[in-house]
Order: sequence, then C-alpha cells, then structure tokens
Amino acid sequence: MTQPASTRRLAVITGASSGIGEAFARAYAKQGVDLCLVARRLDRLEALALELAQQHGIEAFAVQADLSKPDATDRIVTALAEQARSCDILINNAGYSLPQTFLATKAQQQTDFVAVLVTSVVSLTHALLPGMVQRGYGRIINVASMVAFSSGAAGHTLYPAAKSFVVKMTQSLAAEVADKGVLVTAICPGQTESDFAKANGTDQLVAKSNLYKQTAEDVVAIAMSANEAGREVVVPGWPNKLAVAFMKILPDSWTAALIRPQAKKFALPDPTA
Ligand SMILES: NC(=O)c1ccc[n+]([C@@H]2O[C@H](COP(=O)([O-])OP(=O)(O)OC[C@H]3O[C@@H](n4cnc5c(N)ncnc54)[C@H](OP(=O)(O)O)[C@@H]3O)[C@@H](O)[C@H]2O)c1
Repeated sequence: MTQPASTRRLAVITGASSGIGEAFARAYAKQGVDLCLVARRLDRLEALALELAQQHGIEAFAVQADLSKPDATDRIVTALAEQARSCDILINNAGYSLPQTFLATKAQQQTDFVAVLVTSVVSLTHALLPGMVQRGYGRIINVASMVAFSSGAAGHTLYPAAKSFVVKMTQSLAAEVADKGVLVTAICPGQTESDFAKANGTDQLVAKSNLYKQTAEDVVAIAMSANEAGREVVVPGWPNKLAVAFMKILPDSWTAALIRPQAKKFALPDPTA
C-alpha cells in the first residue's frame, strides 16, 4: 500500500549540514514543516533528517548535491519529484568564503565560489519559484551577509560582491512576486556561531576577535519572522544594524579606511606578496 502524501508544507534548505542551515532545519521542523536537506556531507544530512523526523513527526530527506556543479539544481528537483513533493519554502543558505587574496587562489576556486553563492541561488530559485506562484504560496529566504554593504577588502575578494548580488536579487524578486503569495527576504548576518571559519581555515583568527557575535538560532528566528512579515532585507542584531547604517551613509572611501585594517585580521597571508 502506498503511503498517503504529507499535507504539511515542505522546506528545501541548502547548506543544512551545519551552522545556520542546520538551525533553519531545526526551526522549521519544530513548526511541523517537512524538510528536504541539501549539502555535500550526506552522513550529516541523513542523521539530522532522522533526528528531526523522530523528534517532530515530520518527513525529512537528504539530497547530496555539490552546488558548484551544474547538475545540482536538477538533482534537487529530481529528488523532490521522486518524493512527489513540491517546495513551499526555499532557504538559499549554502556558502563559504575564500580568505586568500584573488591572486593567491586558482581561477577554478573563484568560479566554484560564484557557482555556489550566486549561480546556484539563481538556478534553484528559478526552478522552484514557478510552483510557488502557481500554488499562491511561497517563502524564500536568501542568506546574504552584512558584508554585502561593505566597500570590499583584501582577502575574501568576491564575498561582498556575491552577497550584494543576493541582496539585490532578493529585492527585485520580492517586487515581482509579493502579490502572488510569495515572500522573499535576504537576511544579512554579521558574525554568527557556525562552522564557517573552521571551513575556511580562519577559526584561529576569528577566535581572537571580540566582534559582536550571534547564535545561528537567533539569526534564523529573526529571518523567519521577518520573512513572514514580508520584510525584504534584514540585518539581525542592533550592533550589526548600526554598522550597516554607517556603511550606507559614509562615503566608500571612509568605509574602506575603517574596514580594511579590521578585515586584514580575518584574511590569510598572501604567499605571492
Ligand atoms: N557564520 C557567519 O559569521 C556568517 C555571517 C554572514 C553570512 N553567513 C552566511 O551563512 C551561510 C551559512 O554559513 P554558516 O555560517 O552556517 O557556515 P557553515 O556552518 O560552514 O555552513 C555552510 C554550509 O554550506 C554548505 N556548503 C558549502 N559548500 C557547498 C557546496 N559546494 N555545495 C553544497 N553545500 C555547500 C556546507 O555543507 P557541506 O560542506 O556538507 O557541503 C554547510 O552546510 C553562508 O551563505 C554564509 O556566507 C555566515
């Protein structure tokens, strides 16, 4: 006998194997939302899916996909079709950074970076948005960064550009689909507790900093309520809001003078320098 299809909403969450993505998975599971968890580390996704399904009585499944590869969106769309599910909530969260300077990296590293942080966000959103519009319900949260508003610094070269793309994409999309029942939000966190610094090898540098830091759970709670309220761009936490307000008001040359010496503390030394 075939199982009746779940009538619960389903969230597709990229980068759900740790940090902010995992916190999104936990928060939606708690609300009784089914989950499609995406990342490369299948063991972590499957363990999380099992734990949350047992704990909250939801359905959760894992999709192993490397979002730097051109077939990633197809893998996710195929997995949804195999489960006979559609996506109601999309969390474009997967991301990382390259802490070296541009010339200290290989071109492939930079193009892979753009594929994960930019191209896959475009491609996955383009694949899943039509169904949301057709059903008259959709929620999209794009995880950007407060760095989207910065003037750029040495190291992490394309990170501000990628996150600013995500912010602008969010605003345009929101303008296009708000009257179709689809709410689109960019959350722009500052430093957040996660595996981000460990993944890019700067955890020792970040550990020494005394910058304001939030938990992934706090960032996610703010993102979810802002999205539900129809807000387009949200900076979580007052110290981050203040910093972004300054970045928007001050001329770029002033922001650069303030930010660049600080940013050096989070970049890896350039072996070509
Ligand atoms: N932590 C911060 O301070 C901070 C601040 C602002 C914005 N953000 C943004 O928050 C988002 C989540 O990062 P996080 O802080 O939670 O870091 P994290 O703990 O390192 O999580 C990153 C997630 O992205 C996934 N990912 C990385 N490369 C991938 C690829 N090629 N294909 C598929 N999945 C990939 C990782 O999964 P696998 O390794 O298993 O593939 C992991 O689940 C990112 O977009 C980041 O830019 C973070």
